[in-house]
Amino acid sequence: MLKVLLLSGSPRIHGNTMQVLHECARVIEAAGLTAEVVSLAEKRIESCTACYQCGERGCCVIDDGLNEIIEKIRESQGFIVGTPVYFGGPRGDVLAALQRIGMVSRSSDRFLTGMVGGPIAVARRGGHTISLLEMLMFYLINDMVVPGSTYWNMVFGHQPGDALADEEGMKTIRHFGENVASLLTRLG
Ligand SMILES: Cc1cc2nc3c(=O)[nH]c(=O)nc-3n(C[C@H](O)[C@H](O)[C@H](O)COP(=O)(O)O)c2cc1C
Repeated sequence: MLKVLLLSGSPRIHGNTMQVLHECARVIEAAGLTAEVVSLAEKRIESCTACYQCGERGCCVIDDGLNEIIEKIRESQGFIVGTPVYFGGPRGDVLAALQRIGMVSRSSDRFLTGMVGGPIAVARRGGHTISLLEMLMFYLINDMVVPGSTYWNMVFGHQPGDALADEEGMKTIRHFGENVASLLTRLG
């Protein structure tokens, strides 16, 4: 069965990003696909050290829990990443994770090629656009397919629970989830 992995980059396990991703996963599952939400919360994600050993190993030498997530991505056909906005950009751990995931893929079996997905940014007030663009760089250099929605994938909220009350934001995310699911279904 087609599977979409959704990765939350927030340190808050019950925070807005997780809540938004769970709603996106619900829509994807309602369309008949499998969806799993995983989180970087309680992990300390290190940056790529440019050791270039992932080409031979097919995984990262750093043992901080990211390899388990990489294996889950390898088994999936869709990959969605949600980040909280920190000082106008994606949280540092999110970029560190994406750079290492991308490096492992590019130097080994290119498991990201043809995967369908895209970024989601959650913030109290500002910085969504730059965060989305920064994360899009990961999708586009890794030969992935990114569908749109009725607005950009941005949701407003500060305290956990706020984001779910952003009606337009959540409508955008639900439609994005539907588009990911229908594109994957059509691609087979
Ligand atoms: C270090 C830090 C920096 C932040 N910077 C921004 C920012 O630049 N713009 C903004 O609108 N919100 C900012 N916020 C607020 C978070 O983006 C917001 O609370 C978001 O809902 C957190 O998502 P989460 O609940 O998934 O962790 C910041 C929060 C923290 C902890």
